[in-house]
Amino acid sequence: MSCLHDRHATPGVSIGQGRPPRALATPSPGALECELRPGPRREACPPIRRSHEPHQEHPEPPNDRHLRHQDSWSRPSVTYPPAGVTALRLGDAELRDLLDESAGQLLERHLDRSKEWFPHELVPWELGRRCSGGETPPPAGDPLPAGVLSALFVNLLTEDNLPHYFAALADTFRSASALGEWSRRWAAEEQRHATVLRDWICVTRHLDLVRLERARMKQLSSGFDPGVRAHGLVDGVVYLALQELATRISHWNTGRLLDPCGAAVMKRVAADENRHYLFYRDLVSVALEIDSSATVEALDRQLTRFEMPGTLIEDFSRHARAIADAGIYDLRIHHDQVVSPLVIGHWRLPELDGLDAPAERARDHLLSHLERLRRVVARMPPSSDLGGPGPAGQGPADHSG
Ligand SMILES: [Fe+2]
Ligand SMILES: [Fe+2]
Repeated sequence: MSCLHDRHATPGVSIGQGRPPRALATPSPGALECELRPGPRREACPPIRRSHEPHQEHPEPPNDRHLRHQDSWSRPSVTYPPAGVTALRLGDAELRDLLDESAGQLLERHLDRSKEWFPHELVPWELGRRCSGGETPPPAGDPLPAGVLSALFVNLLTEDNLPHYFAALADTFRSASALGEWSRRWAAEEQRHATVLRDWICVTRHLDLVRLERARMKQLSSGFDPGVRAHGLVDGVVYLALQELATRISHWNTGRLLDPCGAAVMKRVAADENRHYLFYRDLVSVALEIDSSATVEALDRQLTRFEMPGTLIEDFSRHARAIADAGIYDLRIHHDQVVSPLVIGHWRLPELDGLDAPAERARDHLLSHLERLRRVVARMPPSSDLGGPGPAGQGPADHSG
């Protein structure tokens, strides 16, 4: 979600923060018909080039069965390079071609897992009221807490900004490639999120609809600077893995504070974000196998300077604090449920072999940053248990797949 830079903030972490002194940094995550993609399947992904066996998967969350799928994407376990041997860096074109080959396979997995759904079927249209004269009628049902309202406001405006994100992707992913095909499918799914969130908010009137529309106009008219996120293809994929997981958690936790109808909307959107996250996460894994040094440098750039895409939203810092205070997304969630499970648990940064000297320096820099982040989080008072896995396994992060 956003980026707060105050004296409490951990350098480089641009997320939502919580209330002072806890507040430090905080980001802001019917019948279904299976879609099958026609055409032949592509060849297997490039082999795993990791020297540590056996492979230890990140522990699966307790359950969250609604978001779980059988993994049809198998990665061969080939050990390369041998321990102590520095792998050669690939050229940009070769790295792009190899990533695109795997992206095609991951796209097929994504489509195999996707379920068709219809935004209009999740909206309680019967609650709608005519609006006129710049006034929004009172909300249907009880007013929502400030942190939930901030999450709805920031999350919808973030989804609304899709044209700018797609333009940035189009500059990085070639149109006539698997990554280009993925980016178009991804955009179609993301636009559905803005549709269902806006329709639900309009009929329930939990936000001032005039203020919301003015904020949307202002945001999209201002543009979007991808900054370090546009450093290169691998940087973009790393950033998107982090951002999709964070967005998934934010949507999921917001839904837990809404009525059943609102919760169903957020749960549906979170399920999409989870599949987006799995696509990018596993593409980063492939990048680590085929050019570990270049990928570790990308990890360092993106992790140490991470910020959610909605930081230019008006009053973003205030919204981020409210979101953190509500337990929807804060620095602890960012560390415990995004950064640590991904970088340490899944990508296993400390164990990577074959890095060249610049990449070793990048790894050291990133690990130092993560240690500072861990210490900051350790000093924070306990968060609301909203963001935790919970005894019923309603964890906001699904790392399976
Ligand atoms: Fe989305
Ligand atoms: Fe997404």
